[in-house]
Amino acid sequence: MDEIVALSKRRGFVFPASEIYGGLGSTYDYGHYGVLLKNNVKNEWWRSMLVERDDIVALDSAIMQHPRVWEASGHLEGFTDPLVQCLGDCKRRWREDHLREAIEAEGGDPGAELRCPECGGELSEPRNFNLMFQTHMGPVAEEGNEVYLRPETAQGIFINFKNVLNFARKSPPFGIAQIGKSFRNEITPGNFIFRTREFEQMEMEFFVPPGEAEEWHRKWIEIRQDWYLDLGIRPGFLSVRAHGSDELSHYSSGTSDIEYLFPIGWSELEGIANRGNFDLTQHQEHSNEKLAFHDQKTGEKYIPFVIEPAAGVDRAALAFLVDAYEVEEVEGRERTVLRLHPRLAPVKVSVLPLFSKEGMPEKAREVFDAFRKAGIQAEYDEGGSIGKRYRRQDEIGTPWGVTIDHQTMEDETVTLRDRDSLEQVRIPIADLVAEISTRLVAPWRSPKADSGS
Ligand code: GAP
Repeated sequence: MDEIVALSKRRGFVFPASEIYGGLGSTYDYGHYGVLLKNNVKNEWWRSMLVERDDIVALDSAIMQHPRVWEASGHLEGFTDPLVQCLGDCKRRWREDHLREAIEAEGGDPGAELRCPECGGELSEPRNFNLMFQTHMGPVAEEGNEVYLRPETAQGIFINFKNVLNFARKSPPFGIAQIGKSFRNEITPGNFIFRTREFEQMEMEFFVPPGEAEEWHRKWIEIRQDWYLDLGIRPGFLSVRAHGSDELSHYSSGTSDIEYLFPIGWSELEGIANRGNFDLTQHQEHSNEKLAFHDQKTGEKYIPFVIEPAAGVDRAALAFLVDAYEVEEVEGRERTVLRLHPRLAPVKVSVLPLFSKEGMPEKAREVFDAFRKAGIQAEYDEGGSIGKRYRRQDEIGTPWGVTIDHQTMEDETVTLRDRDSLEQVRIPIADLVAEISTRLVAPWRSPKADSGS
């Protein structure tokens, strides 16, 4: 993980937030390549939800909603973690459940008396700590105008169920998808962008007739697993784990996590829950709005069940970075390379004039402009030796590099270098955009999956 954190900072993916003021616990800012990577993750998710299917519509709801939303959803009451505090020297705060899980993972008795992992001190009795950030709406912070930053995007979808039904002309099974920021006052954030207090979610609520819920739950687990695999995650590093009944969220009647083998061990990447009709029923009761679906064909009226694949943009980006990261030796020299799926790579192609003279920069600019005009994220770089420039592009995961050299000036051909195989082929400039466009839509498999690295 340390190597990923260092590369992320060095190469402009992710920086610690407020760094010049000493940082602000587990908050991060995304730099240029981080933004491009996250945009690509989100675009791939939207593509899978909206372009490749016709039973899902999009939504972008507000972060702050009426406080009664959180009363109805159960978050005011139940969105808590068990907090224990060290009564010894260090006074650190811990999540009781995490401490017990760690003991169990090491073969110990999770029911045993807990001590502070930092200083060995006694721990307080656990108390339920609500994870929602509270603020006040309006100029005066007073009782009655408290609002909350949403801890999940899902509730924005449930409270818009009727609006969407009215315009979208959909009937169950259909889904509403949204991407947006969520906030949780996590007791123990950490592990880089794995667990932060401000993060982005990609959530889709799929409304189904109650009798179809289990079948759709199974289908969505498979669909979402395939999404990660199609984007290059190595199969051996992905698994599905069903929650035990003691782990289920207050709204869930069944959840399976897609887990990834992060450097911190197998951990949740995405949760796929069967939320039953919990949320719509709660909002119907609290708002007095009728939220049942009336099937005009059968005359049946029912509150749909909901299957919810809920993913994190930051956590997915971390998994893709971890999965792509490799350090290898090439001709006696160490090379760090991000073997990202080309569609996730921040930059698709670099354009590198061999020398900054003899008309090469101008020719390279022409090539670069052709990519730009075709909507392909390219990068022009003429600084430093060609080897250094390749290494820089390898570290940000650019799958292809175009080099303009002496021969280019004579016959309008360039070399096209492949990040993974390091193969170089000669190709006419006129064919470049078509070649890269074709490669971008071709199926891709991580060379790491084959090499077992
Ligand atoms: N609406 C259901 C829901 O929010 P969740 O399992 O709590 O379910 C879904 O969150 C996903 O959001 C997680 O699988 C994870 O990818 C991401 N996520 C949750 N909390 C996070 C945090 N503190 N930091 C980063 N990502 C987080």
